[in-house]
Amino acid sequence: MTSPPPGQSPGKGAAVAAMFGRIAPRYDLVNSVLSLGVDRSWRREAAALALAHAPAHVLDVATGTGELAMLLARGRSGARPPEVTGIDFAHEMLDIARLKAERAGLPIRLERADALDLPYADGAFDAVTVAYGLRNFADVPAGLREMRRVLSAGGRLVVLEFPPPDERPIGRALRWYGRSVMPTIGGWLSGDRSAYAYLPASTLAFVESERLADAMRSVGFGDVRFRTQTFGISALHVGVAA
Ligand SMILES: C[S@@+](CC[C@H](N)C(=O)[O-])C[C@H]1O[C@@H](n2cnc3c(N)ncnc32)[C@H](O)[C@@H]1O
Repeated sequence: MTSPPPGQSPGKGAAVAAMFGRIAPRYDLVNSVLSLGVDRSWRREAAALALAHAPAHVLDVATGTGELAMLLARGRSGARPPEVTGIDFAHEMLDIARLKAERAGLPIRLERADALDLPYADGAFDAVTVAYGLRNFADVPAGLREMRRVLSAGGRLVVLEFPPPDERPIGRALRWYGRSVMPTIGGWLSGDRSAYAYLPASTLAFVESERLADAMRSVGFGDVRFRTQTFGISALHVGVAA
């Protein structure tokens, strides 16, 4: 029996879409509780980087309930906001995103699509973002290639992701939190313990920040940089489409 190459898990997509569909109604609440609200500041930093070069068309991949897409659509103060498109393959997440965008009066185009097969022309966007979506892709290199394809030359990719916790005390505390606290509290609030066991487990199985940076370089991003957020819990990567 042969194993798939690193970052590839055939058959994963449908299970992931169904799982996010199930937890969609409580997704924002559980995020706020489990991160004590800090997740908002991580997305704010990502939005600021994506908007730094005044893009006109921005794509938020794996947009979920649209938290990052809404920050992007608000734009930078004093600048014309970009046109924002958000895609996700879980329609239950998109329904919530639509409701939130409507209530906020933000004209975000929300479409159901697979990140591994984006329905957009080459070079259609000047910035692409993906927040906590990449590690769920059935084929991470293919997802990175798709995001590179739809970016115009010089456009930016901004990736937010949870790197696997390391062996420092904070990393050990995070492992314990992921193993014990997340499934209990996430399960209690969402009614789906297995989803909140999967999420920290998928972080443990994901690549370290250095390797993610290398994967971005290998599909055609230049000037790739990353920095960690809040004691290394989250990491922000940026690359420029060469
Ligand atoms: C952890 S949530 C993140 C949502 C949002 N970006 C945020 O910051 O809260 C991951 C999202 O990725 C979506 N997703 C995972 N794989 C996908 C794929 N191949 N195509 C489209 N969406 C995908 C899931 O449906 C889910 O909504």
